[in-house]
Amino acid sequence: MEIITSTKAMQARALQLKKQGITIGFAPTMGYLHDGHIKLVKQSLENNDITVMSIFVNPLQFGPGEDFDAYPRDVKRDQKLAEEAGVNILFLPERADVYPNEPSFEINVLKRTDVLCGRSRPGHFNGVATILIKLFNIMLPDNVYFGLKDAQQVAVVDSLIKDFNFPIQLIPVETEREEDGLARSSRNVYLSEEERVHAPHLYKGLKKAADAIQNGETNPATVIHIVEDYIKTNTNGEIDYIEILSFPNLEQLKQLHGKIIIALAVKFSKARLIDNIILETQIGSRNFEV
Ligand code: PAF
Repeated sequence: MEIITSTKAMQARALQLKKQGITIGFAPTMGYLHDGHIKLVKQSLENNDITVMSIFVNPLQFGPGEDFDAYPRDVKRDQKLAEEAGVNILFLPERADVYPNEPSFEINVLKRTDVLCGRSRPGHFNGVATILIKLFNIMLPDNVYFGLKDAQQVAVVDSLIKDFNFPIQLIPVETEREEDGLARSSRNVYLSEEERVHAPHLYKGLKKAADAIQNGETNPATVIHIVEDYIKTNTNGEIDYIEILSFPNLEQLKQLHGKIIIALAVKFSKARLIDNIILETQIGSRNFEV
């Protein structure tokens, strides 16, 4: 595995690969790799000649009081995991190289951000969009791989690619889960023993909602209530939000129809966990697909 630490060298390498007609698959990450990240790599390896991964904890996407300093980091372990997974090039830039000057531009994401995590993390997606514009221009990928656990991020990246005409294909990848259903996340390490027992109930609550919809429920408020009740009964976490929206536009629905997302965020003592289910509904029909 090749390791590149400078933005200039990375872009030069990507340009060289493009000139040779080599396709580049790209998995952007903030490190502390887990099976969810490895799943992105595996998928990229299947569709591209070269797979590149970046590890960069992007300060711009953390708000004041969020966990930028405490965000788990272990570059040595990540290098080993990336190499074992088959990553061809690992990009490990320094902050001063990525953001060398006071910026002259500010990216402001106008849609798909005033709901879900965007509502409680103002500016977060502006930071995500800024780093991705930079990384897309440095890595010159053909295909980019994003986990559906961060479904709002997938929706924002979808519009980023379309709005700015990036010649890039977005490949959303299914959430990787533990055996008990808990979505894999770098933040799971913050859970206490008791919270780790409660945490799988988030996904179970979402599945109860999916079951209700499958059984014909079309009222979003009723479905949200089912999840809320389940989570309050089975965990000691504090619900940040439970929302049902259209996907990927992330718009409110009076009645459930078309492709929808049921998403939640729950705060435990040191970890705020998110999860979601995306499914296709059809009013008046039992047709259903997760
Ligand atoms: O999903 C993440 O880890 C980050 O938001 C990303 C896409 C690497 C941008 O910093």
